[in-house]
Amino acid sequence: MDWVYNVPIKFHEYDLNEMKRRLNEFSGNILFIASKRVINTFSFEVSNFQVLNESISNPDVHTVQDILNQIKKPDLIIAIGGGSSIDLAKAISSLYEYKNNDILDLLKNKNYLDNTNSIPFIAVPTTAGTGSECTKWATIWDFDNNKKYSIDADYLYPNESWLVPKLTSTMDENLTLATGLDALAHAMESYWSVPSNKYTRVLARDSIRIIKKYLPLVLSDLDNLEYRQEMLMGSFFAGLAFSNTRTTASHSISYPLTMMFGINHGFAAALTLFEVLKRNWNYIAEKDLFLDAWDAKNLEDIKKWFDEVSNNRLKLSNFGVNKEDIPNIVKLATTSGRMDNNPIIFTEEEIEDILNSIY
Ligand SMILES: [Fe+2]
Repeated sequence: MDWVYNVPIKFHEYDLNEMKRRLNEFSGNILFIASKRVINTFSFEVSNFQVLNESISNPDVHTVQDILNQIKKPDLIIAIGGGSSIDLAKAISSLYEYKNNDILDLLKNKNYLDNTNSIPFIAVPTTAGTGSECTKWATIWDFDNNKKYSIDADYLYPNESWLVPKLTSTMDENLTLATGLDALAHAMESYWSVPSNKYTRVLARDSIRIIKKYLPLVLSDLDNLEYRQEMLMGSFFAGLAFSNTRTTASHSISYPLTMMFGINHGFAAALTLFEVLKRNWNYIAEKDLFLDAWDAKNLEDIKKWFDEVSNNRLKLSNFGVNKEDIPNIVKLATTSGRMDNNPIIFTEEEIEDILNSIY
């Protein structure tokens, strides 16, 4: 079968000092996106830059519009943070040109696709999970209307992505678990996605192998830099895999969970992961190699791992969802480009069944 693999990004793995040296080489009209906490914890010298240091999670249309009005057009953006900060860099890069227009209209009509003046940017993840350093898309939320938009354009791959394990070491236990599970969801969903191919499956399996081993270890020893480095690589390989396949049913069902109940993206994606795996099982390629990556004999072994790593927390009832909410979640759970990327397109009844089995 024909397939192609494309990620036009320069990746560097740096230790913190090398990264700071690299940062000091830049001057001029640079927009530096990082929270105050990140800037202070790692003593980043940013006086030369235009700095955006609010900590923003899940950027929405209002936030993006306000920021576009508030900044001066930079020549380069450097974003150090979780997926939200890197997504914000992508939003600024693609939408700055249109800052006098209504952002919601732009997102709906996708006029930004014609942008020939996008702003170059460097992505530096501080979490090991979102994979945003590997992809050409970003999520912008419209909480007023319970909607989620993807900005998605070939020019939106980061120009460079820097992998610096030390930067991920400030995550607490909860964020380490949530982002680690998000990375695992990217790897697993990529594996069974419709466009999955031999190469993306190698990347996905390696990611699964690493996360299966190192997520429990790092959760028991948050300061261990070797474990942090392994998790960053696990997330990176998942990012490389799903950058070319995208995600599937679990991410599709996750969006209303985040929108309606504020559930962290990683937990929202991971909640349905095992139930989706079970239902997809007959359609998964190279099953033996998949089980091998898990070091599992059967699906029950995988279920056991999820229960143990999460302390049995992956249940809707633990995240403020009531049983009566399930039909409303179902109505918003089918995102095009995600659900139809799953080997089976689940019906509303099947989605309801999945949600009931994780209640
Ligand atoms: Fe994700």
